[in-house]
Amino acid sequence: MESQIHFKEINSTNTYLKENFSTLADKTVVTADIQTAGRGRFSRQWISQKGGLYFSILLRPTKTDFIANLTQLMALSVCRAVEELGGKPTIKWPNDVQLKGKKLCGILSEAVATQQGVSCVIVGTGINVAQSDLSHVGQPAISLREAGIFIDKNMLLPSVLNYFWQGYEDVLQNGFASLREEYKKRFPYLGKTISVKNGVADATGTVTDISPAGALLLNAGNGPKEILIGDLIV
Ligand code: BTN
Repeated sequence: MESQIHFKEINSTNTYLKENFSTLADKTVVTADIQTAGRGRFSRQWISQKGGLYFSILLRPTKTDFIANLTQLMALSVCRAVEELGGKPTIKWPNDVQLKGKKLCGILSEAVATQQGVSCVIVGTGINVAQSDLSHVGQPAISLREAGIFIDKNMLLPSVLNYFWQGYEDVLQNGFASLREEYKKRFPYLGKTISVKNGVADATGTVTDISPAGALLLNAGNGPKEILIGDLIV
């Protein structure tokens, strides 16, 4: 069993682990009821009011080739936990979990590197569990409660973690290949025309596949190209 640290309020569970990783054990899980400076991908804010499940995991992986796929493992783990409760979540590449087409969960992974290489990875997850007003989110968002799923966040966490640990070693050794089939089952954008924004090379095209490495394959007119990072605009 991993060790857990809980805060009623903290700036960000990811930031806490970044600042304290050297004194904490592999697989430590940090949770908070409220985050005052929650962070999202691309330096966005993650407003973290009471009612959401906010947690970060500290990982000291033995092999670091596939650490980028741990966020996709977490997205799949959240899906599985929500499915157990009767929901039908989908994944918006690379790692947003949606319910009824709205954002249910976001994941921010950060690697801490030293001169010797990656020393740890922090996988931070925010799930909308019991909030009833997500109008501040800036994109369509939904909580489990709003979708008619009533679950205590303290019951949801062990279920998500359980799925995550079940897949963890396989992802470390084999990368996205170990998730691809199950991930694609929950990815509703195959064959759809979408845009991808990542600030570097925004593109619009048809989604042809998720590659064996977990990248988005987008055909913008001249054959499928791999996109490694970005946000889908659907
Ligand atoms: C995103 O969709 O942009 C990712 C959001 C990640 C939010 C979680 S909440 C727990 C952890 N602590 C943070 O500050 N961020 C992550």
